[in-house]
Amino acid sequence: MIDRVKEYLEQVEAFSSTDPQEIETFRVSYAGKKGILNDLFASFREVPVEEKKAFGQELNKLKEAVTTKVKELQTQSRAGASKMRISDPSRTAFPIDTGNRHPLAVVKNRIIDIFTQIGFSISEGPEIEDDWHNFTALNLPAHHPARDMQDTFFIQTDPDILLRTHTSSVQVRHMENNQPPIRTISPGRVFRNEAISSRAHCIFHQVEGLYIAKEVSFADLKQTLKYFTEALFGNSKIRLRPSYFPFTEPSAEVDIYWGLETETDYRITKGTGWLEIMGCGMVDPNVLQNCGIDPDEYSGFAFGMGIERIAMLLYQVSDIRLFFENDVRFLKQFKATL
Ligand code: PHE
Repeated sequence: MIDRVKEYLEQVEAFSSTDPQEIETFRVSYAGKKGILNDLFASFREVPVEEKKAFGQELNKLKEAVTTKVKELQTQSRAGASKMRISDPSRTAFPIDTGNRHPLAVVKNRIIDIFTQIGFSISEGPEIEDDWHNFTALNLPAHHPARDMQDTFFIQTDPDILLRTHTSSVQVRHMENNQPPIRTISPGRVFRNEAISSRAHCIFHQVEGLYIAKEVSFADLKQTLKYFTEALFGNSKIRLRPSYFPFTEPSAEVDIYWGLETETDYRITKGTGWLEIMGCGMVDPNVLQNCGIDPDEYSGFAFGMGIERIAMLLYQVSDIRLFFENDVRFLKQFKATL
């Protein structure tokens, strides 16, 4: 009898499997209701008295061996299964097609990132504006000829309400509500009635910037723009060309050196190698006065750029309309890093 128990013990110790089904069959065959252990316990009666003690001890050993074995194999098999689930490299990837940011948003965020790193805040304002914030406060009184520089959409018949033609209007609001030092950029959508050219688009996006403090000079403006263009375009060369804006004096246009290597370079830079990327200048004292800031105490600079234009340069996109058609094949090519 004892020898039978010992044989079972050897079998139990030798058993091994990772298959949960097999382990269960093993467990039932030993520890189940009609299993070997119960059988052996039942035969206890037939064991001669002098052997009872030894038999009992062996039987308990067997019982313990079965329990330990089953536990051990079950833990191993579970661990193996979860490892498979996590790291099986042969599994095909689940094709989740996540969307991506629109290229204009990518570029806008990059511009915001560059300026916020040097202490500019972000300001926003309404797209439907009044004449004061879009024009008059910016040194563009009624009937000023420079109003024609930006073809304006007016709301119905009220000439006082219009769609903002630039986010300079946001800066007027910001100056009205804050005293210097002011360092802010205003990204946003602007509207111009430019139906003349097929390339032109009536809705586009701008980022304008404003810096007002004591003794701000043109050199500060130039350095800020140099820092910005280098951060955005890499090691680039810029030049400032004299220009005119009613709200800045002196004013300039910023060109970036594009190069003259290919025929396309010649075409897009009109043979100069330079491309205009933004307008800028020292804020006109009249504008400061209109917005409640003392021009004798403070000075400042402002700049403004079109996000579409910057995105076209950065990504070498030749037709602005691609940004508005929302063809996924176009949009999918841009990966946001911000
Ligand atoms: N507001 C001008 C525009 O929309 C850009 C600009 C801003 C120019 C600030 C000079 C200074 O064209």
